[in-house]
Amino acid sequence: MMDFENKKFRKIFFEIYEHLPRGGPGDAASTRKAYALTKGLPGHPKILDVGCGPGRQTMDLARISPGEIVAVDNHPPFLERLKAAARRAGLHERIRAEEADMFHLPFEQEAFDLIWSEGAVYNLGFENGLRVLGTFLKPGGYLAVSEAVWLKKDPPEELKAHWEAEYPAITDIPENLAMIDKCGYVLMGNFTLPKSSWRDDFYTPMAARIAEVKKRYQHDQEVMEMMPYFQNEIEIYKKYSDYFSYEFFVMRK
Ligand SMILES: C[S@@+](CC[C@H](N)C(=O)[O-])C[C@H]1O[C@@H](n2cnc3c(N)ncnc32)[C@H](O)[C@@H]1O
Repeated sequence: MMDFENKKFRKIFFEIYEHLPRGGPGDAASTRKAYALTKGLPGHPKILDVGCGPGRQTMDLARISPGEIVAVDNHPPFLERLKAAARRAGLHERIRAEEADMFHLPFEQEAFDLIWSEGAVYNLGFENGLRVLGTFLKPGGYLAVSEAVWLKKDPPEELKAHWEAEYPAITDIPENLAMIDKCGYVLMGNFTLPKSSWRDDFYTPMAARIAEVKKRYQHDQEVMEMMPYFQNEIEIYKKYSDYFSYEFFVMRK
């Protein structure tokens, strides 16, 4: 079980996560596919990326869209990585990375044409997140989010227990679609992330990073006892990847 109250656990968590290409499953082709579901955006849309993490999807969005992007996260080292990447790519004039708490976003209501959030809306809760983020969207604006979903009914007990500990609110695609409808959005489309988007930029580099951390802390029993938590997440995915994934939902206010 993730224990963020434990300072040492938090330190090790970030020693692993701060070095990964992404903070969750995703890939450039899926970001592009989701963006293609938004129709008739203004020439230079105002875009908000919520829970941007190290900002892979922010960079992809800036390449796909001519818009201005504000990317927010509450973990500053991720924002520094994004700023550096944006400068290196010459995209820094269209990407502003800001520290902000998604529960208290410092923006005017109806300020954005498009709000993006890959693998991060779960922090607000899916339905609550749709409502909260919707207030920052212009009428007719778009919201694109990816969210963990069940793909199959009746998951094995071990998998159920894993999600019960990590994100008990996980549900299936029809339930998520019902919440989208209930919150007053029109669905533009939805699709499941491919298995490669869990593997290539997420679990493969995470496994390598865990190995490095284990080597560095081999004499620290407390840290070594934390390692199965991180390894288990990868194992669970390997065993049960047909049962769950992330679903991209693109909707219009
Ligand atoms: C699973 S990661 C996804 C990151 C990124 N969107 C990606 O796909 O690579 C979730 C992100 O949400 C951020 N986060 C968590 N709680 C937050 C909050 N209250 N306000 C802002 N960001 C938050 C974390 O720091 C992390 O970067």
